[in-house]
Amino acid sequence: MSLLFVLLVIVPLAFPPVGSISVSNGGRWGSWGRMVSCPSGYRAFGFSLKVEGRQGGGDDTALNGIRLLCRHVNNYSARRIIASSEGRWGRWTSYRTCGCAGYLRSFRLRVERPQGWGDDTAANNIMFRCTDGRLLTGAGLTWGSWGGWSSSCTRGICGIRTKIERPQGWGDDTALNNVIFRCC
Ligand SMILES: *[C@@H]1O[C@H](CO)[C@@H](O)[C@H](O)[C@H]1NC(C)=O
Repeated sequence: MSLLFVLLVIVPLAFPPVGSISVSNGGRWGSWGRMVSCPSGYRAFGFSLKVEGRQGGGDDTALNGIRLLCRHVNNYSARRIIASSEGRWGRWTSYRTCGCAGYLRSFRLRVERPQGWGDDTAANNIMFRCTDGRLLTGAGLTWGSWGGWSSSCTRGICGIRTKIERPQGWGDDTALNNVIFRCC
């Protein structure tokens, strides 16, 4: 076997690059923000959502942003908050965490499918599974339906990248449409 073959084929197979996890039911609008990661030595163990409440007759956007709460693997008290792009509407809800035993490891999204001439909101809520199996459901809204689970980050989630539709002026806003997470 040539050295080149070992370097180009065997080594990458034995040590796959750090992956990311995604779901297939994300919304169709918007553009991807940048990937933002926890500091080195930290992993995400909690999250908060930016949620715009129901607007009655107005233009609803539902989920606008996601913040991850990272903690140092050796120090539960050493924490850092990270976020990618976010929409302009709504308020940050309180943090939900895996507690001291786990990290975020997989997720699924609640997404409203395109409404035709109706008021679109795209993503409404997110649910995470912790490395210890615990389920955490966000304080989002209830339009749409839950999609399937992403694959799992064995050692937890360490980064976030969101897909946000920018404000549409007099048009129909949806804000957050999709998200991917980077594995540690
Ligand atoms: C853990 O983190 C907290 C908050 O940053 C810090 O005050 C404390 O000194 C750290 N403990 C250790 C053992 O490093």
